[in-house]
Amino acid sequence: MVSAVAAHLFLFLVSVNLIPITPIVEEQPFQAEDGGHGVALGKSRKRVFPVPHTQEPSPISEAYGYCNIPNHTEQAWEGHSPADYKLLSVQVMIRHGDRYPLYYIPKTKRPAIDCTLSPSRQPSHPMLNAFISHMGQGSRGHWESSLGSAPRLPKHSVCEMGELTQTGVVQHLQNGQLLHQAYKHHNLLPSNWTPRQLWVETTGKSRTLQSGLAFLYGFLPDFDWTKLTMRHQWSTLFCSSACDCPARNRYLEEEQRRQYRLRVADTELERNYADMARTLGLPTRQLRAANPIDSLLCHLCHGLSFPCVRVAESGSGGCLTMAQFAVIRRQQLDDEVDRRRVGLYRKYAILAMYPYLNRTAAKMERVAKSSEAGRQPRAGGEEVFTVSSAHDVTMAPLLSALGLEEARFPRFAARVVFELWKSPPAMQGQLKKKAGKAKDGEMFIRVLYNGEDVTFHTTFCRSHNPHAGQPLCPLKKFLSFVKRDMFSIFNATTYQGACYRRPG
Ligand SMILES: *[C@@H]1O[C@H](CO)[C@@H](O)[C@H](O)[C@H]1NC(C)=O
Ligand SMILES: *[C@@H]1O[C@H](CO)[C@@H](O)[C@H](O)[C@H]1NC(C)=O
Ligand SMILES: *[C@@H]1O[C@H](CO)[C@@H](O)[C@H](O)[C@H]1NC(C)=O
Repeated sequence: MVSAVAAHLFLFLVSVNLIPITPIVEEQPFQAEDGGHGVALGKSRKRVFPVPHTQEPSPISEAYGYCNIPNHTEQAWEGHSPADYKLLSVQVMIRHGDRYPLYYIPKTKRPAIDCTLSPSRQPSHPMLNAFISHMGQGSRGHWESSLGSAPRLPKHSVCEMGELTQTGVVQHLQNGQLLHQAYKHHNLLPSNWTPRQLWVETTGKSRTLQSGLAFLYGFLPDFDWTKLTMRHQWSTLFCSSACDCPARNRYLEEEQRRQYRLRVADTELERNYADMARTLGLPTRQLRAANPIDSLLCHLCHGLSFPCVRVAESGSGGCLTMAQFAVIRRQQLDDEVDRRRVGLYRKYAILAMYPYLNRTAAKMERVAKSSEAGRQPRAGGEEVFTVSSAHDVTMAPLLSALGLEEARFPRFAARVVFELWKSPPAMQGQLKKKAGKAKDGEMFIRVLYNGEDVTFHTTFCRSHNPHAGQPLCPLKKFLSFVKRDMFSIFNATTYQGACYRRPG
């Protein structure tokens, strides 16, 4: 296990493919509970998203990685390609930014965080004021279903549960701006872009809606509201009309049972919960159910000390400690290792993310077709830029489905980017008789996670040798993966076949 983990660390420290080596601020994934699973599982709220196992760095620096505190500029490898390749389309999935906890720890004071936006409060962003005023004109945009009545900015001076914070807004203004810089020389979206060229979708939560808007504003400052439609994805899996999949639910239930068994077998963890519960004067069961890690993380991300209590009856009490926090983290890391070993989660993830991947692949195929030499450009342009504003319970299965199982757990404001590239036309037959007739360029895909090129770590391009002629991953590898190869793990060739296969 440990060597696999070392390999993982190595994987994300080394940039592959064309690109100079830059260790980006190294961090480890972190588990947060978020958003539900997009599938009906009753009241079950068991953890499904653990994290890779490593000895280093410490749980505390790992946690800061998860916080993604926007106090520095990041390196981003989006938009990099060999010379003369043309960027045809970009599809981005983001996780919402920093948010207030979804759970609170009974008997403790909630973390004191102000969710109103104020450019004079840190962390801030040069675009924050303009963003706030632009959001004030949002009624000129088009909003699907109930999105129109959701708040477009966080606004409570005492944050509500799950509310996006100013940190979260700043993270996505930065993300958007980063991609704006990365793509501005590629003429991806012309200044007179059409509604067809920009697709923005979000779940119905205000934190994803607001994150999507901040990202979009950073990417496309002062965008024309009248051309924008905010689309609603009711499921956190972004599965639109293809959400029915009995086998997916079965794998998730089995995965949750695995996770539960591992947890209850962990005597150190149980003792830790008992200690914490004693400090707070709570039944252990109640503390465990309150999911304290989510709230402790929020304290950490905002530089607040962990909560303290004084238990009146006994005169005892005290504070929750970093050591207790570290034990919960350690168990999450163990769980991540076990999760990969058992493989149920990966099966769940493939079925969960197929509808999204299928849409992504279909868009790329359409854009690729329309760029064929000799074709008339379509009126209204092509679908060149897509933003899907999502949750950790969307992005974690996406990473797993792509085979990026060693990737870090999605931090706040994490991003996955799919780029479609076309190579320059090649001279046909080299120096032979038909010299002068150009062969149309070929299509390639790049996949990036938090700015790092992970294309050659995906299942579909792992075996591609970028030094053997084609420096990028051919699009057709991705297409055949999505169209059938990803189902081979179920001995099936289609989504339907895999979803409705009888158990046993
Ligand atoms: C950003 O904040 C983190 C966490 O407080 C800290 O470890 C890091 O050094 C800071 N980076 C900069 C460039 O200030
Ligand atoms: C996959 O994409 C194709 C092409 O857009 C579409 O016709 C099909 O319905 C999609 N399948 C599912 C299960 O989403
Ligand atoms: C696929 O087939 C193999 C060999 O027949 C079998 O061992 C495996 O359990 C099957 N997998 C599934 C998911 O049905």
